[in-house]
Amino acid sequence: MKIVVDRDACQGHGRCAVYAPEVYELDDEGYCAITEMLVPPAQEEDAISGADACPENAIEVID
Ligand code: F3S
Repeated sequence: MKIVVDRDACQGHGRCAVYAPEVYELDDEGYCAITEMLVPPAQEEDAISGADACPENAIEVID
C-alpha cells in the first residue's frame, strides 16, 4: 500500500501524525513532510486512519 500526500492541500492540522506518527512525519511548522511512502503492512491500518482523519483530504491511499 502507498500513501500520497498533496502538500499543497495540507494545512498543517497534524491529525494524520496523531494516528500514524511513524508514517506521517511533520515538518517544523506542523505540515506533513512527506509526499509519498510505501507503507509497511504493520502500519497500514494506522496510515489509513491518519488519512481518514485529515480534514483537507490531502492524503490518498493507493492499494
Ligand atoms: Fe496536513 Fe492533513 Fe496531516 S492537513 S498535517 S495531511 S492531517
